[in-house]
Amino acid sequence: MSHVIGLKCRECGTEYPAGIQNTCYECFGPLEVNYDWDYISDHISKEKIAAGPKSIWRYADMLPLESEKRVDLGAGFNKLHRARRLGAALGLDELYILDESVNPTNSFKDRVTSVAISKALEFDIKAVGCASTGNLAAAVGAHAAKAGLPAYIFIPATIELGKIVQMLIYGPNVIAVEGTYDDANRLASEVADSHPDWAFVNINIRPYYTEGSKTLAYETAEQLNWQVPDHVVAPLASGALLCAISRGYKELERVGLVDKADFKISGSQPLNCSPISTAVQSNSEVVPVRNFETVAHSLAIGNPADGYYAKKTILDSGGFAASPTDTEIIEAIHLLARTEGIFTEPAGGTTVAGLKKLVESGHIQKDERVVVYVTGNGLKAQDTLLKSLQRPPVIKPMISEFERLFAPKLDIHEQKAAVAI
Ligand SMILES: Cc1ncc(COP(=O)(O)O)c(C=O)c1O
Ligand SMILES: [Zn+2]
Repeated sequence: MSHVIGLKCRECGTEYPAGIQNTCYECFGPLEVNYDWDYISDHISKEKIAAGPKSIWRYADMLPLESEKRVDLGAGFNKLHRARRLGAALGLDELYILDESVNPTNSFKDRVTSVAISKALEFDIKAVGCASTGNLAAAVGAHAAKAGLPAYIFIPATIELGKIVQMLIYGPNVIAVEGTYDDANRLASEVADSHPDWAFVNINIRPYYTEGSKTLAYETAEQLNWQVPDHVVAPLASGALLCAISRGYKELERVGLVDKADFKISGSQPLNCSPISTAVQSNSEVVPVRNFETVAHSLAIGNPADGYYAKKTILDSGGFAASPTDTEIIEAIHLLARTEGIFTEPAGGTTVAGLKKLVESGHIQKDERVVVYVTGNGLKAQDTLLKSLQRPPVIKPMISEFERLFAPKLDIHEQKAAVAI
């Protein structure tokens, strides 16, 4: 008896055994993992989770693995920060940040990759791969190295240098494609089709991959003492992350770990590549975009695989979507760093900038308990961020030089301190 029944079509409900498959043969709908929720409800408890590892694997009873073959670098169970200073700056009474920049390869993609490659081992695959906007590449490179498997990683050639350096260090085969993520993804899909015993984490084993992200909802609720926030905000690229977070909260209610999963979920996408946000804002179909240019490279997907479902998830919950400009994204990176001490890349800047816009437009209320997901680390995007910072002044190693530079500032600090006393 297992907690996993197999795979199931999200559209027509046709069931399949667990295997390397992502599309329904009957209607071409996407497949998702089909769990035995009654079995899980009987076997799960808050105490069992609390006694588990401090990683995504504390929720193994609700993840698709059926063996103990885990490829585990320690992803997940990251700190939910109470963000008082950012909350005050944005006009929110109770804001929290789940900081994903501290994962093993510094983005939330370690969650999805750890689950996907662990599951792939159950299928006796010969290699792993992915199409990536940058972060998934590093996660797949690292987890493939840990598993001792060859990896084939397809990226658009124009992503940040920091991300390329990071992925190369793990030794995978990196294929930089001329064009956008959508071009790289198309090529990766063709390669996956011609190598049926290779597991491409976000292509032919996508149903298992997306399951990793729902642990973000689980650990948020656990750190809120098994309560669900009023409103959550997540970044959007393919839309898979946002759908998984929403699903995660609902599953907690299904198995009785929370009383009620009553929440709104909102998304944010860079204005220059915002097919899902545009569809939410105008309540229209998701129309793919081409020829885009944005600083938020990791969110630059013009043809989002889960766009339709992300839009529906947002609107059904009563949430909304934002689309900040590149300037607003960079400003939000600075704001987050200076108020909360968290350094994020433009994907996180997009989310924080989106949060700001949603508060300003009244879609998020002052008294809501809000959680924002900061999904990647700023150190990966230094080439982008250097342009928004001033290099430090260079002085001779003399106290007089320091005083010359800082005396006016020190005066102001002393005056402020006197007022505070
Ligand atoms: C840092 C970061 N945040 C968010 C996302 C969006 O994820 P999804 O494609 O599941 O919407 C990505 C995707 O690559 C990412 O790298
Ligand atoms: Zn179907």
